[in-house]
Amino acid sequence: MKVYFDNAATTPVAEEVIQEVVEVMRHQYGNPSSIHQQGRDARSLVELSRKKIASCIGAQSSEIVFTAGGTEADNLALHAAVHDLGVKHIISSKLEHSAVYNSVKKYATQDVQVYFLNFSPAGEIDLHELEALLKSIEGKVLVSLMHVNNEIGTILPVERVSALCLQYNALFHSDTVQSIGHLPLNLTNTKIDFVTCSAHKLHGLKGTGFLYVSKKNKISAQIVGGGQERDIRGGTENVPGIVSMGKALSMSCAAMAVDAEKVKELKNYFYKELQEIGATVNGSYDAASPYILNVSLPKTASSSMLLFNLDIEGVAVSGGSACSSGSHLGSRVLKELGVDSETPAVRFSFSRYNTKEEVDFVVEKLKKICK
Ligand SMILES: Cc1ncc(COP(=O)(O)O)c(C=O)c1O
Repeated sequence: MKVYFDNAATTPVAEEVIQEVVEVMRHQYGNPSSIHQQGRDARSLVELSRKKIASCIGAQSSEIVFTAGGTEADNLALHAAVHDLGVKHIISSKLEHSAVYNSVKKYATQDVQVYFLNFSPAGEIDLHELEALLKSIEGKVLVSLMHVNNEIGTILPVERVSALCLQYNALFHSDTVQSIGHLPLNLTNTKIDFVTCSAHKLHGLKGTGFLYVSKKNKISAQIVGGGQERDIRGGTENVPGIVSMGKALSMSCAAMAVDAEKVKELKNYFYKELQEIGATVNGSYDAASPYILNVSLPKTASSSMLLFNLDIEGVAVSGGSACSSGSHLGSRVLKELGVDSETPAVRFSFSRYNTKEEVDFVVEKLKKICK
C-alpha cells in the first residue's frame, strides 16, 4: 500500500480535471490572443474558467488575474502594493510562506518599513498588536497575513483582519493558497484587496494560479509582455492549467462542506491514534484547518529519520513546507514557534481522497518506527 499524506505540498490531479485537460490539449490548442476560430475557442475557455473561479469566491471575473502559481500571485500582490499603490509600510508575520516572507524582506531593503507581528504558541497572530500598529502608523499600509498556515494549519480570522484594515484604511493581502476550496471565503462579504490561489493544492495542475485584485485597486504588470490579462500579466495564457483550475475549484467549492466534514473525521480519528503513540500537536488542534495536522513524535532510534523511514514504508509526508524526505531539515515556522528541533516533527496533510484504511496503515507504520 502507498499512502499520500502530503496534500499541502501538492495534490493528485482529480480524474475529472484530467479528462477536461486532455480534451483541451487535444482539441483546444489555439492561442487565446489569436483572432481565428481556434484562438477564439481557447479564449472562451479561459473566460469561462475565470467566471467559474470568480463565482466560487464572490468576485467579479475582471478581478481575477491568472498567474503561473501561488508564488507568482503573492509576488504580484506585494509588487503592486509597493509600486502601484504607494505602500510604505508592510505588516506581516514570520509564519508566512516563503513566497510572502522573502518578498516582504526584499521590500524592507527598498525604503519600505516592515513589521512582523507576534503570535501565540498556537500560531495565532496577535490582532491587538495589529490594531495598535494600524492606529500608530502614518502613511499607506499593506497587511499581508495568510488565511491558513501551510505548515501548522492555523486559521487566521480573516473577517476580523479585514474589518481592521477597513477601519484604518490599510490594504489587505491574504495568501489563501491553503484555504481556497477548503474553507468558505466570500469576497463580497469579506473585503480583501488581494488573495492568492494555486491550482495544484486543490487537485488541479501545477504552474497555475491566480491573484484576485479588488476592482478598486488599479495595478500594473510585474511580468511585462504582450498585454495579456488586461496588461497585468504578460505571457500567453496557460489554457490547460487555467481550465484545470476552473474545474478543480468548482469541484472543491461544490463539495466543500461534505469534504471538510469527511477530512475532519479522518483527522480526529488519526489524532486519537497518534496521541497513543505520544504525539503532541505543533500549532493548534482546534484553531487549525481539518486538512493539516502537524505533530512532534517521541524520539527513538528510528524516529530520528522519521520521514525517510516512512517513505521506505510507502508513506509520503513532509517535515514542513519544503519536502524533505530522508531527514528532518528543520522548518522556519516550527523554529519560530519554539518547537523542540530535537524531536521529529511531521506534517500530515489530507485530501478528500484519503481514507480510514490509509490512516490505519500509517498508524501501524508509526507504531513500528516510534517503538
Ligand atoms: C501558503 C502557500 N503559499 C504559496 C505557495 C506557493 O504556491 P505555488 O507552489 O503554486 O507557487 C504554497 C505552496 O507551497 C503555499 O502553501
